[in-house]
Amino acid sequence: MQLRTVLLAAVVGTGLSFLVAGLTVDPRLPGDNSGYQPAQPIAYSHRVHAGENKMDCQFCHTAAEKGRHAGIPPLSTCLKCHEKIVNRPNSKEPSPEIAKLAKAFKEGQPVAWNRIHRMPSFVFFDHSRHVNAGVTCQTCHGEVQTMDAVVQARSFTMGDCLNCHRDHNAGLKARGMPPAAPTDCSSCHH
Ligand code: HEC
Ligand code: HEC
Ligand code: HEC
Ligand code: HEC
Ligand code: HEC
Repeated sequence: MQLRTVLLAAVVGTGLSFLVAGLTVDPRLPGDNSGYQPAQPIAYSHRVHAGENKMDCQFCHTAAEKGRHAGIPPLSTCLKCHEKIVNRPNSKEPSPEIAKLAKAFKEGQPVAWNRIHRMPSFVFFDHSRHVNAGVTCQTCHGEVQTMDAVVQARSFTMGDCLNCHRDHNAGLKARGMPPAAPTDCSSCHH
């Protein structure tokens, strides 16, 4: 009896979350999503970390040259420094934003960061091929190291992807090399 109730709740819960996800989480797909900047649960700043403190992007986004996703770092990466760094920048006052990190870590709760860039499910995109071909993070994501809150810099429409692929191939052709960036439908839709 109790188990059935739990199962039923799980099924209904999943159904609802699909509905809610369809209605509210992804209203921006497909099409031009440049400028998208959802609010984040903790005031994490790329300007402070990757800019002022010159941290390498891949210190936190460790998978960018290995696979499809760059990845968002777990709290344990943050706590490497924030077990000791607990105050507001240039102050002796504790930072309420850093306190949220310690609290979430203690409770074993991951931070629910809001996703900014997201391809529709019918598009295939892989970070590693781009990063290993020498396309910088900034070419696609803008000057992230100057942003307090990340904003989507490019449209990432089909035309946007294709324009870079065509330019890249034209550059290779001028040097007598074969095209490397695909323009056929099935490379990006499979
Ligand atoms: C100290 C760890 C850390 C470093 C270093 C770091 N990031 Fe991030 N990055 C994060 C976290 C945490 C998030 C999720 C919160 C947010 O969106 O701000 C994130 C989010 C992002 C996003 C948005 C992801 C999405 O939801 O679409 C991009 C793009 C990004 N980072 C690029 C970069 C680039 C480029 C650099 C180097 C210039 C960099 N990051 C350095 C931790 C880091
Ligand atoms: C390599 C060390 C290091 C790592 C790793 C690191 N930080 Fe920081 N963080 C700093 C430094 C340094 C400051 C600035 C402190 C200062 O200027 O006094 C800072 C400041 C902050 C602040 C600003 C607090 C405020 O009140 O303005 C927040 C929030 C923060 N970090 C969150 C994070 C999160 C989230 C992560 C993991 C994704 C992370 N940090 C990873 C070193 C680090
Ligand atoms: C050729 C363009 C391009 C380059 C270069 C690129 N990205 Fe991305 N990035 C994207 C796209 C497109 C997405 C959305 C991917 C998806 O939804 O599957 C994305 C998503 C992300 C995300 C969100 C989570 C994830 O992994 O999907 C992070 C974080 C991120 N990029 C960081 C980086 C960092 C750091 C670099 C450099 C090491 C980088 N990106 C290089 C285009 C790029
Ligand atoms: C700024 C330039 C640039 C942008 C923007 C870009 N690409 Fe690429 N892409 C490249 C280059 C360069 C290569 C060739 C990599 C190589 O030589 O292996 C490539 C290769 C690919 C490949 C074949 C390799 C693989 O991973 O299977 C796919 C698929 C692909 N891109 C999808 C996309 C999609 C989807 C987008 C848009 C969301 C996009 N690209 C945006 C430069 C770009
Ligand atoms: C370099 C990668 C790439 C290639 C090659 C590519 N597409 Fe796309 N396509 C995308 C991306 C990214 C989107 C989603 C963004 C958008 O809405 O523009 C998309 C969206 C679409 C859509 C949905 C459009 C909409 O507005 O709902 C269709 C249909 C489509 N592509 C068909 C094709 C066909 C047919 C080809 C071959 C002639 C092709 N694509 C080649 C990346 C690509």
